[in-house]
Amino acid sequence: MATYQRMLFVCLNDRGEDHPKGSCSRSGGAELLDRLRGDMADRGLKRVVRAVGTRCLGQCSHGPVVSVQSEDVWYGGVQASDVPDLIEKHVLGGEVLEHLEIPDDQLIGVEHADHPLPTLKRKPKVGEP
Ligand code: FES
Repeated sequence: MATYQRMLFVCLNDRGEDHPKGSCSRSGGAELLDRLRGDMADRGLKRVVRAVGTRCLGQCSHGPVVSVQSEDVWYGGVQASDVPDLIEKHVLGGEVLEHLEIPDDQLIGVEHADHPLPTLKRKPKVGEP
């Protein structure tokens, strides 16, 4: 399949100054995304991995937040200075950066096992068995 192998979603949400929930954009989200895109392009990864800016990813107290999909890895407090490790170790090395991972018990959401969703059903593409 010719598509991106990893997607990095970088929260750029901005609630304005002094909002109690905080805003990833005000704690370095935009600088982080710029560095990520620039460094990935320099490494020739533009068509391999995609970094996109998003609105709120629901983990606001941990900003700036990066969600790596489809691996379901959630990083918090990520700064532009973490980009070399993100690329070298996670994207290219397949290694989770444990020091940046938001602890499971602090993630906002529902335990997957408590609310399982069905596996996606897809018709075979032309030429597939
Ligand atoms: S503001 Fe970034 S996760 Fe909510």
